[in-house]
Amino acid sequence: MILVTGGAGYIGSHTVLTLLQHGHDVLVLDNLCNSSAEAIHRVNRLTGKNARLIEGDIRNRALLDQILGEHPIRAVIHFAGLKAVGESVQKPLAYYDNNVGGSITLIEAMQAAGVKNLVFSSSATVYGEQGGAREYTETMPLGVPSSPYGKTKVMIETILGDTAHADPAWTIALLRYFNPVGAHESGDIGEDPQGIPNNLVPYISQVAVGRLERLAVYGDDYDTPDGTCLRDYIHVMDLAAGHVKALEHIADKTGVYTWNLGSGTGSSVLDVVRAYEKACGKAIPYTIAPRRAGDLPAFWANPEKAARELGWRTERSLDDMMADTWRWQAKNPQGYR
Ligand code: NAD
Ligand code: UFG
Repeated sequence: MILVTGGAGYIGSHTVLTLLQHGHDVLVLDNLCNSSAEAIHRVNRLTGKNARLIEGDIRNRALLDQILGEHPIRAVIHFAGLKAVGESVQKPLAYYDNNVGGSITLIEAMQAAGVKNLVFSSSATVYGEQGGAREYTETMPLGVPSSPYGKTKVMIETILGDTAHADPAWTIALLRYFNPVGAHESGDIGEDPQGIPNNLVPYISQVAVGRLERLAVYGDDYDTPDGTCLRDYIHVMDLAAGHVKALEHIADKTGVYTWNLGSGTGSSVLDVVRAYEKACGKAIPYTIAPRRAGDLPAFWANPEKAARELGWRTERSLDDMMADTWRWQAKNPQGYR
């Protein structure tokens, strides 16, 4: 059985679905601070399987001890955490407490229970500012992320590395995601941000569905082909498949493994807008706004290590990502509510 922390969230719910389809038993622990139990109900309906959801917090050591004591957990996929970059600048302690503190409590409980197999949601943000347009490779040194959120990812990677160094029985996969977007092809599960979205694709979606008036494109004077920032967008179902591959790969190994999960291609903000317009069949009104503080001009993954070692590559195009996002948004204009 696989314990999935944060499994009711955006990436977690798609990964739970994929795990169930691969025949894994799944237990989800989520405090629902940024998600809805409805996501797991829908995953169970789509798969005809039964992932159980326990509503609770990864900072609750007694609850973790109980879960690890009562269920035959062989590995943990750890998604639980706060992820809003801007909010983390305003509320750094909440991010260090939830993300770093929560991860330490989880690692301690796993250590005590003898469950030493962990897949962790890291981020391309750990590479920090490397200067100019960059392809990130796993062998690059970690940088200094500009936000407390990003710093929590560097800290947790470091803590996990030191834990495995001290106790070689641990096996840890650090998965560095690039920009996850898209939704399950059914349109029944997807990303459901609370309040005004911070991220590009959820924002465009709400413009497309009439909840927001127009997109602000943050800067068109970068040194990129059309002047807007380049990112490596990855379909959330490709990302979910990467987790299953990583979990299966590390099952009979020990040590720490790091993989970029990205497509290897950068797309500009305007490329995304045009792909979304094609998917939804309407124009997305936008204005050019000043640059957003902390944004890097251009970065994308070198995905070769995951291809070589996991036999994993992205399969879905930017058009697929936007078509699936639009299906989810059109079927669920108010998200899960
Ligand atoms: P999400 O907010 O949809 O999912 C996170 C889930 O964790 C939510 O369901 C939330 O309720 C739960 N959670 C938060 N704190 C918790 C706690 N203390 N105890 C129990 N549950 C808790 O976010 P997501 O986009 O699915 O991201 C999942 C993970 O991937 C996060 O760690 C995030 O930092 C990381 N990540 C996300 C992106 C991205 O762009 N979405 C990029 C890189 C890395
Ligand atoms: N953008 C806009 N308008 C918006 C929102 C975003 O133009 O309303 C632009 C941004 O400037 C950026 C691109 O769209 O160029 C993508 O922005 P997102 O906010 O969707 O994604 P980021 O690349 O900024 O964020 C991602 C992850 C974070 C991670 C961060 C670190 O979502 O988890 O990279 O680089 F921390």
